[in-house]
Amino acid sequence: MKILVTGGTGYIGSHTVVELQEKGFEVVIADNLSNSSIEVLDKISKITGTRPSFEKTDLSELETTRSFFSKFPGIEAVIHFAAYKAVGESVNLPLKYYRNNLVSLMNILECMQEHDIGDLVFSSSCTVYGQPDSLPVDESAPIKKALSPYGNTKQIAEEIISDFCDVSKMKTVLLRYFNPIGAHESALIGELPIGIPSNLMPFITQTAIGKREFLNVWGDDYNTPDGTAIRDYIHVVDLARAHVTTLERLLNESSDEKTEVFNLGTGVGYSVLQVIRSFEKMTGMKLDYRIKARRPGDVEKVWADTQYANKVLGWKAEKGLDEMTLSAWNWEKNLESLRTR
Ligand code: WQD
Repeated sequence: MKILVTGGTGYIGSHTVVELQEKGFEVVIADNLSNSSIEVLDKISKITGTRPSFEKTDLSELETTRSFFSKFPGIEAVIHFAAYKAVGESVNLPLKYYRNNLVSLMNILECMQEHDIGDLVFSSSCTVYGQPDSLPVDESAPIKKALSPYGNTKQIAEEIISDFCDVSKMKTVLLRYFNPIGAHESALIGELPIGIPSNLMPFITQTAIGKREFLNVWGDDYNTPDGTAIRDYIHVVDLARAHVTTLERLLNESSDEKTEVFNLGTGVGYSVLQVIRSFEKMTGMKLDYRIKARRPGDVEKVWADTQYANKVLGWKAEKGLDEMTLSAWNWEKNLESLRTR
């Protein structure tokens, strides 16, 4: 069964392609390589033995997207990851984010309709909740005003998809990710931030490998046990496997809902200092970090209520924080070995 994975050379996309291929799906990838490298295809085929079909594609161009679907007939479902995702950059370049993320989505929906493809899995984010009123946050929590254009593109995308599904034969599942970290056990694929990382885990591993002088801890004056902010970190392989479970649910038509929403987290929140401690324990290294002022736009604490995904989707995260931090370190070390070759 042929599945289109847009953004399939990216961090979460590549891990999902691996899990799809290992479950016997045929995968085609559309990606503009703006935030990933084509070498990822070789790494995927090294892991699974199968090189996915690939076409460099600017999905924000309708005719380009149309020609992609004509070139790869027989697509049965779409997992749509392709989007710009740097929160900070989105504040400075809002039009770049609204145009790319929303026009690409609408082009995908248009082409799915033209090719009678009825199943869509969409990559959404817990940022739609902002700072929830109560924790853990479940799927019925109110959507809060987005703190960035990036977060707003996720909220608007969910509405576009839901409105479109209401008037088409399409069914969709919106997956709200919490904080994906870690890497595949092979250390052949992982998070590959371009430039200075904004996310915590790659900044930790780059500091440990010597690429960064020290880690800034953005605020230790939050109302949390150790003062640093809390997030629900989830292993990227657990997240990837949730996409395969979701796809199978759609293909088996297990639900009569047109649009379903699931939180993808572990249900456990960890503070920045707890992540640092886990990394130090798993690697035996001492991390140089310095406490600084809060980062504007950060929420204080958020973690998922995962009951709905566990019960209805039939998926549960299995990997703990220590496995996440160690796998991130193994990936960083492998990256370094490739750089110094
Ligand atoms: C986590 C915690 C920081 C870096 C963002 C997006 C979200 C998703 C994941 C795309 C926070 C602290 C971080 C550093 C630090 N992205 N931190 N020093 O902001 O929760 O979520 O990335 O889908 O949509 O909003 O993730 O990793 O940036 O931060 O202290 O150098 O680590 O303040 O408390 P975030 P993050």
